[in-house]
Amino acid sequence: MTSDTSIRCVVWFGEPTSVERTCLAQAGWHTRVADASAQGGGVGIRRGDTVVALADLRKADANALSEMAKLMADHPRLPWLALLSADTVVQAPEVERVLRASIDFFTAPIDLQRLIETLGTLAGNEPVPAAYSDVPGITGTSPAMMAVVASLRKYAPVDLPVLITGETGTGKEIAARALHKLSARRDHPFAAINCGALPANLVQSELFGHERGSFTGANARRIGHFEAAAGGTVFLDEVGDLPPDAQISLLRLLQEGTLERVGSTQSIKLDVRVLAATHVDLEKAVAQGRFREDLYYRLNVLRLRMPALRERADDVLQLAQIFLDAFRKQHDCHARTFSALARKALRDFAWPGNVRELLNRVQRAAVVAESAQISIADLDLQDVVVARTGPSSLGLTRTSAERDAVVACLRETRFNISECARRLKVSRVTIYRLCKKHQLVLEDMH
Ligand SMILES: Nc1ncnc2c1ncn2[C@@H]1O[C@H](COP(=O)(O)OP(=O)(O)OP(=O)(O)O)[C@@H](O)[C@H]1O
Ligand SMILES: [Mg+2]
Repeated sequence: MTSDTSIRCVVWFGEPTSVERTCLAQAGWHTRVADASAQGGGVGIRRGDTVVALADLRKADANALSEMAKLMADHPRLPWLALLSADTVVQAPEVERVLRASIDFFTAPIDLQRLIETLGTLAGNEPVPAAYSDVPGITGTSPAMMAVVASLRKYAPVDLPVLITGETGTGKEIAARALHKLSARRDHPFAAINCGALPANLVQSELFGHERGSFTGANARRIGHFEAAAGGTVFLDEVGDLPPDAQISLLRLLQEGTLERVGSTQSIKLDVRVLAATHVDLEKAVAQGRFREDLYYRLNVLRLRMPALRERADDVLQLAQIFLDAFRKQHDCHARTFSALARKALRDFAWPGNVRELLNRVQRAAVVAESAQISIADLDLQDVVVARTGPSSLGLTRTSAERDAVVACLRETRFNISECARRLKVSRVTIYRLCKKHQLVLEDMH
């Protein structure tokens, strides 16, 4: 059977409204209403078709529930989604089974947009536009990343300092390199210096150089990183860690374009562009007197904020595929793509370590994967009780004590709802309510 004749089909256990049918049809999905009086809902599944079962629990009767259970038993790999009404009663074991098997559930009023998106993810063919921006080293086409790219283009030709902020692993150094490569300084040196890693007593000499005999051990004149980068760009990473005397020297360089080597009073004229990055709150360091206010204003003329990966969920799959493709070029591995569930987990995970963490997880998964599709287990994301993250929501980072407790207990009980309910001394219905309240989606792990 060729892909031309394969179809995308939703087997609907229940009664779709005409609006629901129309919406699905517009998104390219056939709706087949399951026949609750027939074996397995009267559903025959053709090889090559994309089939998703939909448990409409808004009005499901016992008959429909038992047919759902049969279909589940016959086709254990079939993905399920569930629709709930606000007062769906979850006491029946069949309902519980359906909910446990469901990858995602939707509560009335059903968000059809989200339903169609989820179906697209399950079909594994949501549109993946070209991922590369036209800025070297920067990947991503999400609105957040496009805004970064626009700023990079605007800031690159200007010789002013840029303060780059953002969480760890968001690509601050990549952005600094891109600014350099897009500027007229591109053929001159680019020096990246981690201010936090320099020994405190040597910072001045490392950055600005020293004259022979200027301190014990200074046996010869040495030029510093700034002079070595003459005509180019110096990127000061973790600029908040600069000690006070180096802050003064840097301020002078920015204001007057001159520096003095340690042990010399001679001013040396120098043309370098300074870029700085911080993942600490520099405003706070200023308020606490740890960072000079005048230097802060000099560095902060132009500001670039690198978005966290969870703010650009649209980029995650593209980046993951690019990292996998790059890995495959260098190593033998079975993995070629990501399973539908893995794609969902990649999108929904909160990525505290941002792009660096994504890169690490994908590489690790590529090593351990034994089939062509990377699974959530390969990514070590199988424990993720996935929170639905909209573009502006913060996903797993937005927690509450109650939510944490439910998540922890679900994990401990390996998602056994009854056991979890027993341990938390509440009913199973309450567990489902809590899941709904905290937007937790029970992943079926296998
Ligand atoms: N947009 C991107 N496209 C491709 N790779 C990226 C992108 N952003 C980051 N990376 C990769 O992610 C990793 C981390 O990036 P980078 O070192 O620039 O982050 P950082 O913000 O400087 O992190 P830290 O605060 O921990 O120093 C690097 O391997 C980098 O190549
Ligand atoms: Mg860095």
